[in-house]
Amino acid sequence: MNEINALETYNKLAKSYSDKIDYKPHNAFYDRPNTLSLLPEVAGKHVLDAGCGPGKYAEILMEKGATVIGIDLSLRMIEEAVMRNGSNGEFTVHDLTHPLGFEDQLFDIVICPLVLEYIYDWQPVFKEFNRVLKPQGTFVFSITHPFSDYTYYKSKDYFTTEKVSATWTGFGGAIEVESFRRSLMDCINPLIENGFTVDKILEPLPVPEFEKHDPKHFKELNEFPIFMCVRAVKNT
Ligand SMILES: C[S@@+](CC[C@H](N)C(=O)[O-])C[C@H]1O[C@@H](n2cnc3c(N)ncnc32)[C@H](O)[C@@H]1O
Repeated sequence: MNEINALETYNKLAKSYSDKIDYKPHNAFYDRPNTLSLLPEVAGKHVLDAGCGPGKYAEILMEKGATVIGIDLSLRMIEEAVMRNGSNGEFTVHDLTHPLGFEDQLFDIVICPLVLEYIYDWQPVFKEFNRVLKPQGTFVFSITHPFSDYTYYKSKDYFTTEKVSATWTGFGGAIEVESFRRSLMDCINPLIENGFTVDKILEPLPVPEFEKHDPKHFKELNEFPIFMCVRAVKNT
């Protein structure tokens, strides 16, 4: 029930995901500019990219002078991240539902864009992110918006976290992608319960370049959000 096919899915998607990630409108002109806007200055900072996928975020952050360690469930994604970033950064396979192999207070920043949907229980994950962050360290994540998910999946019970499934066609052939949908309070309270203060929530707008690539979704995203970006700060 609390198991989904994320590993198999992202191993299959890795190559086309990496090929498209630089310009795919929902990533390049919606998620990334908004999620990145929540980060403090990253130059000289030590960043954990949790669920790094093909390493696009890592690439951007390293260009800005950060040192980045990327971890991901999918070996194929890690291979793409290494191909993209060459000898820059460090990328290893790791399942975020297991404890992190890092010492306490190692990182200034943890980012986790578009990953948490694939994890049922966020409590141990946020506890680990809190442990590896320095005091006052920043945790930034993006997720699909809980209200958008509720509508999209035609859920009958808003309050119960449930396994859902969607057919994606944006990365080549059709592929069934399973994830977990949850309420707004179940997105935010695990932060507060694991030593974070919520600092800012963004219901993002697409940046103008989105319109050139996909005018229909540009209009829709200006009327209703499908992602939500959150910045939290580790309590001292
Ligand atoms: C939609 S992609 C996002 C990739 C990247 N963060 C980005 O925004 O470009 C989701 C990623 O989460 C990873 N993932 C899913 N479940 C995970 C888990 N339990 N532990 C680590 N990574 C996971 C997948 O393998 C995939 O690379």
